[in-house]
Amino acid sequence: MDFTRYFGGGGQETSASQMPPLMPPQVMPQPGAPPEERVDDPVPFDRKEPAPPVEPERAEQPEQPPEPVLGPTGRPMPHLPEPQPLTTHGKARVISMCNQKGGVGKTTTTINLGAALAEYGRKVLLVDFDPQGSLSVGLGLNPHDLELSIYNLLMQRDVAIQDVIVATNVPGMDLLASNIDLSAAEVQLVHEVAREQTLQRILQPVIDEYDVILIDCQPSLGLLTVNALTASDGVIVPLECEYFALRGVALLKTTIDKVKERLNPNLNIDGVLGTMYDGRTLHGREVMERLVQAWGDTVFHTVIRRTVKFSDSTVAGEPITTYAGESPGAEAYRQLAREVLARCLDG
Ligand SMILES: Nc1ncnc2c1ncn2[C@@H]1O[C@H](COP(=O)(O)OP(=O)(O)O)[C@@H](O)[C@H]1O
Ligand SMILES: [Mg+2]
Repeated sequence: MDFTRYFGGGGQETSASQMPPLMPPQVMPQPGAPPEERVDDPVPFDRKEPAPPVEPERAEQPEQPPEPVLGPTGRPMPHLPEPQPLTTHGKARVISMCNQKGGVGKTTTTINLGAALAEYGRKVLLVDFDPQGSLSVGLGLNPHDLELSIYNLLMQRDVAIQDVIVATNVPGMDLLASNIDLSAAEVQLVHEVAREQTLQRILQPVIDEYDVILIDCQPSLGLLTVNALTASDGVIVPLECEYFALRGVALLKTTIDKVKERLNPNLNIDGVLGTMYDGRTLHGREVMERLVQAWGDTVFHTVIRRTVKFSDSTVAGEPITTYAGESPGAEAYRQLAREVLARCLDG
């Protein structure tokens, strides 16, 4: 068999000198004949470039407003003015930190928002309304040593609130402490007349002495939390920026709506606060997006990032604003204080 028929051979027929040129010689168009178009022709250098379309847009650009700076919630960050000092105090706005889920930052937010508001010259009362007494511990108290606690106020009509309130190490911030006795109060309150209004009644004598009263709720939607919501003008819902944290918020919303309808028509959701946020993870950013989709502008522009400084300051028994005053966590709560003031206290 002659393989050269298939693979070439002998060399003569296919030597390079005999190969046809790769580019055909330029065919000169004949006068009158249409120019021959060939897709493989090299593009001549003198072809007219179309006018660049970007030019007119570039000319208009200076008239466009500058790109807004997006905050961590994906919305433009508003200007939060430096709060003006007050010359008089009261009547306090009462705000509950509420979420039936534990470990979402209720107590941390109560302590640090309170301390930041006090730094801005507001008179603040913190109410520990969780029998676990974490707020009291976080401010350096030993709950077992308390002579009088909020339990006595709820159960004994002859105890005055002024005798139960203690000063904290933060100037301008006081505390109504609690301990495990409060869990007994929840059981006993069930038999009281106007059981849902008990906390509202005991706070009444000091409403005019403070600018803001923050109530740290227990992680349930039981009678103590209903008492807190009934005594409040507003609710702040701290939400851990985790997917599962979004579940259960509907139930909280239903409870708030019921209290509003039956017990306290003035109750307002002052804000939803994203806590333990990690903007470096896609998950964190996705949860934040869902939060804003579900709650819109109720979500605070301020978010609290995850940092161990919060646990450290709890162990030290003081707010992060004094424990690590320059830390990003302290700054975040100062920003939250400015946002809360702008949104529902100074307005
Ligand atoms: N932003 C945060 N980053 C890291 N840890 C936090 C943050 N906020 C709170 N923590 C910690 O998480 C735990 C639960 O917070 P806490 O405020 O007690 O929640 P809750 O009162 O809702 O149960 C505490 O140990 C606290 O120190
Ligand atoms: Mg707590």
